[in-house]
Amino acid sequence: MDNKVIIFDTTLRDGEQAAGASLNTQEKLEIAKQLDKLGVDVIEAGFPASSVGDFEAVRLIAQEVRKPIICALTHANAAAIDRAWEAIKEAARPRIHIFISASDIHLSYQLKKSRGEVLQTSRDMVAHAKNYTEDIEFSPMDATRAAPAYIYQILEAVIDAGATTVNIPDTVGYVTPQEFGGLIQSILLNVPNIHKAVISVHCHDDLGLSVRRGARQVECTINGIGERAGNASLEEIAMALKIRQEFFNLTTNIDTAQIYKASRLVSELTGFPVQPNKAIVGANAFRHQSGIHQDGLVKNAITYEIMDPRSVGVPASRLVLGKLSGKHGFKERLAELGYTLSREAIDHAFQSFKELADKKKEITDRDIESLVAEELRTATEMYHLDHVEVSCGDHSLPTASVRLIGPDGQNLADAALGAGPVDAVYQAINRIVGIPNKLTEFSIEAITEGIDAIGEVVIRIESEGVTYTGRGASTDIIVASAKAYMNALNRLVAKKAVTEGKA
Ligand code: KIV
Ligand code: ZN
Repeated sequence: MDNKVIIFDTTLRDGEQAAGASLNTQEKLEIAKQLDKLGVDVIEAGFPASSVGDFEAVRLIAQEVRKPIICALTHANAAAIDRAWEAIKEAARPRIHIFISASDIHLSYQLKKSRGEVLQTSRDMVAHAKNYTEDIEFSPMDATRAAPAYIYQILEAVIDAGATTVNIPDTVGYVTPQEFGGLIQSILLNVPNIHKAVISVHCHDDLGLSVRRGARQVECTINGIGERAGNASLEEIAMALKIRQEFFNLTTNIDTAQIYKASRLVSELTGFPVQPNKAIVGANAFRHQSGIHQDGLVKNAITYEIMDPRSVGVPASRLVLGKLSGKHGFKERLAELGYTLSREAIDHAFQSFKELADKKKEITDRDIESLVAEELRTATEMYHLDHVEVSCGDHSLPTASVRLIGPDGQNLADAALGAGPVDAVYQAINRIVGIPNKLTEFSIEAITEGIDAIGEVVIRIESEGVTYTGRGASTDIIVASAKAYMNALNRLVAKKAVTEGKA
């Protein structure tokens, strides 16, 4: 058996299914480009039949990201498969990924179909997709709660029909690692034509020991984001296979030095902060508090670090630029950090950098990341925050006035009172944009140390049952709050425009 593990990244599909994580087309493209640099083998770019926005994003990624396989997810339904193909047909290496429920629980309560009917549909739909491309992946959804004998039968049928990868999803994160490893091993033993396909694993809570039992594709997401509790995390899998090479005897194509950058980008654009104690990419992953650990580290880092932070691309926390730095230095630093922005975006980010340098003495890599993320967030917005001003204090009524630039470039201004300055700003923005929504979460954090640090605000708003996340950064926390609200509202407006067929 080959000892190469295929890394299948589904940050843009299953990852985006995390509540509140909606990304716009440009943000998805940016993440896809970073996944390409990271060296993933397959990018699951989206679910084209699910929305016009998803279709467009998959199509753009298929056109622009040429090295990895670009995969589109689809139901086992001919019209949805046709739509998936339409989105990826220009990819250098297209893949269609068909899924259908396979457990009796799903069959009786959700699909209301018999095992025989699902078996037939699976075979027919793989054959249908095969008319478009050689590379077909098939997933029997909720496989870990399905009857194993039925899974063997369905896998044999779809491999006969042309499936080249068969994915085993633990859709609801139900089984233990041992049970999951056992299922993979039993598939190898009980599906006669299994050698004609790659076995893939898709776990929602953990990776288990499946790769040791014969799986050769792992489906995962950056930072482990995804439906409910999330998916297996790409960085943890890649580093486990690298650090414990002698145990797994498996390799991947991942350039681990790109991990940190990918993690930051996904966190900034989805609005999901990375928990400090998250393995590999959390803020504390390489911090040592106790005296004994610090003593060991000074003597030799390997005493308490099983990996060098530089091997995953964690930048040394050094001061990089300041007030006197020129555009050339700024551009160079951006390149060192791995950003490839358009000339216009660099000009704009440089202007923000200069404004920041006037307020903040020392500008770190983390500040630059925040500036770039702000640049990416605002590049495609419909309403742009042009001006915000508040008056507040212990003896005054919080009052805010705001000016936005609207979709047609018009100036839109209004003012409002609120319970506090942030409420007043949000009320004033609501008077202009006029889309009812409810603020469900608000948090603020300083991204670096010091009183002059940039404050980053993450909020979630809800409208018609859908959650939208917004993020904004500034040394002024009221401005950061206003930017975060605009970011969430712009996502809401874009989604509404897509649903109503205006975009
Ligand atoms: O978790 C799951 O079952 C999925 C499938 C669509 C592969 O995401
Ligand atoms: Zn999933």
